Amino acid sequence: MSRVTLFLAALASLSVVSAARADGDLRRGAQVYRACVACHALEPGLHLSGPSLDGFMGRVAGTAEGFVRYSSGLKDADFSWNAAALDGWLKDPAGMIPGTYMTFRGIDDPLARADLVAFLEIAGQPGGGRKVVDEGLVPAGWVRAGAPEPIGEPSPKMHVTAIRHCGDSYFITTGEGRETPYWEKNIRLKIDSAETGPPVGVPVILGAGMGGDRFSVIFRSLADLQQFVTESCEARRT
Ligand code: HEC
Repeated sequence: MSRVTLFLAALASLSVVSAARADGDLRRGAQVYRACVACHALEPGLHLSGPSLDGFMGRVAGTAEGFVRYSSGLKDADFSWNAAALDGWLKDPAGMIPGTYMTFRGIDDPLARADLVAFLEIAGQPGGGRKVVDEGLVPAGWVRAGAPEPIGEPSPKMHVTAIRHCGDSYFITTGEGRETPYWEKNIRLKIDSAETGPPVGVPVILGAGMGGDRFSVIFRSLADLQQFVTESCEARRT
């Protein structure tokens, strides 16, 4: 890259930042964005309860690739996200798109909304998550937000090899060969079909806090869940 192109590139990125600053304060906007982190990641393609916000600015509403849970209102919307549309959405999501699945009451304070819009004009560009982290606006952890840590290769203790249900209980055998009884209400059966989930055919059991007697069993797919969970009162011989 020549000096001139470097200079022009620097100028261009500067003007993006200062244009946004004219209307709202980025740093304050990043703090307002805290309210969104529970449901939205900034990593491309990483959908949580809400769609990834990577690259949504300027895009037609309801079209994040791979997100299949849009409400019909947002799916059928025919506008693109810009500062004005975003301001209306953040003020009153259900007022703008009746029946929206975004259970967020909205932000009354117009200044807080302007700050958040200024922040999203940068964070919502393709690759914007990395940019706002590099600029020190948000902690790196906000990019993946509430996405679970990848499970990876489980230890024998975590690896569930059999799971049977009997009465009000699950009897769970792990890779160590031991069968342990659990009250059915303390066990959550979950599916994580994303790359953060366990390997195919290898369900795992994880402690879920709450006094140490609650656990989640996580399957990679519905097929794994159907295959592993059986109704049987016959103790496994180990
Ligand atoms: C409780 C979870 C939740 C919270 C909190 C939340 N969102 Fe959402 N968001 C969603 C869901 C779910 C959708 C999809 C809504 C639909 O289809 O009706 C969505 C959709 C969106 C969209 C439209 C994306 C597209 O592809 O068209 C934007 C933009 C958005 N949210 C921004 C935000 C911002 C900014 C915040 C913080 C102020 C926020 N959301 C807080 C769950 C949430």
